[in-house]
Amino acid sequence: MSCHFKSYITTPIYYVNDIAHIGHAYTTIIADSLARYARLIGQETFFLTGTDEHGQKIEESAKLRGKEPQAYADEISATFKNLWDDFDISYDKFIRTTDKDHKIGVQKAFTTMHKRGDIYKDKYKGHYCISCETFFPKTQLVDDEFCPECGKSTSIVEEESYFFRLSAYQDKLLAWYENNPDCILPKSKRNEVIRFVEGGLEDLSITRTSFDWGVKLPDDFNDSKHVMYVWLDALMNYVTALGYGTDDKNMDFWPARVQLIGKDILRFHAIYWPAFLMSLDLPLPKHIGAHGWWTRNGEKMSKSKGNVVNPREVADAYGLENFRYFMLREVPFGGDGDFSQKALIDRINSDLGNDLGNLLNRLIGMSGKYFDGRVESDKVANHYQAELNEVNESLAKLEPMLFELQIHRYLEELWRPLSVANKAIDKYQPWTMMKEDRIEETMALNGLIATILAKVSIMLHAIMPKTTQNIAMALGFEINPESFVKLIRNDEILETFIIEKIPPLFPRVEEELIVEIKPEKVEKATVKKESKKEDKNEGVALIGIDQFFQTSLKIGTVVGAEEVSKSKKLLLLQVDIGEDKPRQVVAGIKEWYSAQDILNTQVCVVANLQPAKLMGMKSEGMLLAAKDADGLCLIRPEKPKTTGTSIS
Ligand code: MSP
Repeated sequence: MSCHFKSYITTPIYYVNDIAHIGHAYTTIIADSLARYARLIGQETFFLTGTDEHGQKIEESAKLRGKEPQAYADEISATFKNLWDDFDISYDKFIRTTDKDHKIGVQKAFTTMHKRGDIYKDKYKGHYCISCETFFPKTQLVDDEFCPECGKSTSIVEEESYFFRLSAYQDKLLAWYENNPDCILPKSKRNEVIRFVEGGLEDLSITRTSFDWGVKLPDDFNDSKHVMYVWLDALMNYVTALGYGTDDKNMDFWPARVQLIGKDILRFHAIYWPAFLMSLDLPLPKHIGAHGWWTRNGEKMSKSKGNVVNPREVADAYGLENFRYFMLREVPFGGDGDFSQKALIDRINSDLGNDLGNLLNRLIGMSGKYFDGRVESDKVANHYQAELNEVNESLAKLEPMLFELQIHRYLEELWRPLSVANKAIDKYQPWTMMKEDRIEETMALNGLIATILAKVSIMLHAIMPKTTQNIAMALGFEINPESFVKLIRNDEILETFIIEKIPPLFPRVEEELIVEIKPEKVEKATVKKESKKEDKNEGVALIGIDQFFQTSLKIGTVVGAEEVSKSKKLLLLQVDIGEDKPRQVVAGIKEWYSAQDILNTQVCVVANLQPAKLMGMKSEGMLLAAKDADGLCLIRPEKPKTTGTSIS
């Protein structure tokens, strides 16, 4: 592989309406591994990640929390950035779609596409899903109403809109897929995209007038009620981050080597994105890699079930690099993966502990006992050529696998040399050889093992950067582009060194370290460490303060109340919580409060619950109440408080 190569690697930019979960960590860790590998083999590399901050969904999330969208986006964007910093993610740029340069770049793209005749103005009427920020044709809706992607209710939106002539790109897109068999990986996903595009493409609405939180049209359009469609805005990040539309500073990194995404956003990346690029006369990415979906213990993860895998929690409990290895080894890229602690523990104890960690321990033990820690590799080829050949054969296969996104196969193949080493010890029995005074052979065996460990560490470095650097330290070298060339490219051997004892790399994990909260039994869950000390907490799941603050609690004033005649339990309330208009709340309190009792009183409202429907009526909040044998009473402020005040 040539070294003048430039590698640009991207992740999706993450929406700021949620905190990072295992899905985000997975994409980012794959991208980080590719970027580290590219750097190690001497390529000029640019790795981009960031946050997607515009659109109706974000505007509404901010509003629910009583915040301005920018302040809200700042807060959540920082949680992503902090996590990646704590995870040592080696990004070169963290882009935010609210960055000024990005907005300028998006406007420039709009103007360019318009000049080319690819943008026109018309009216749009369609079924819109706010959650997916997408229009769907009626034929794709579930039960004529619900979003085919996320299942939420869609609404009919009629607006004036600018359109992108996507239909004009159908043939060019098909030609691209045809002529570039690896443009979308895995290949099965490329076939899905081809079938979709062959079915016909409609022009794409690329502006909205129903909300404000987005990039405005360029001034010369004189059309201030439009903001850009969030996907046009977001996709452009991949080039605005390189200076498109401003200083073009890093545009020589374009086209991207690999753009990593999840399978749910393939359509945007494999159809809209290349069409936009063609319209801008920019080259198309080399590979778009779509990975699968993570579940937990076989179940779909969701906030309401409380079973979302928090990457920080897993990394804290099991070690960041073990977690990285697990994610990349466990699932074939493109397939869905299941997170279970059992599977993670098996990988740590078996692949990492037994195969890799123990091999190093065996080497430290043998070289310490027989040679005062000295390891010489110069006679390896004289005695163990067959083993060396097998190792080199495996290593030669590895090179293309990473960038073809066959990451689990890469790791599988990388374990073969380890098995060659472990088997060689069992076969040649150094303790017997020493008894027979076969010193040179024993030393060469140690040299073989050290060489294998060194080569494997180099090739594993991108995935487990610190661990492998520790192994290298024990073996008296450092992993860097020079040692890569020496030991991998030029097949050189390790120079003589004195082995350094290091603490065990992968202490055995004997039991699950995170207490699983069974979704249906949340009230029974316990947190291992805390519950023993704190009897009172036994039987209650402990949460961190950030989890508590995810609930937005507000002082509300009931400004409208009526009884739901068909229900014994429900009151229909209008509760002012300091927003533009009162929230409609359907409350199950009729047995204890009449409409009159509650009208014009203050209550405490959970303000960021997903809206629900009760007897066909939308409910946009929940009142806090306490119920015991005597009945139910509402929780209210002790003194009147300003409507909309946050409770904390
Ligand atoms: N903002 C858009 C991307 C714009 S890129 C120009 C977006 N953001 S997202 O935060 O909702 O999702 C980001 C990524 O997380 C997607 O690639 C998505 O596939 C991935 N995942 C979300 N849940 C996931 C799992 N449960 N498992 C694996 N990945 C998942 O979409």
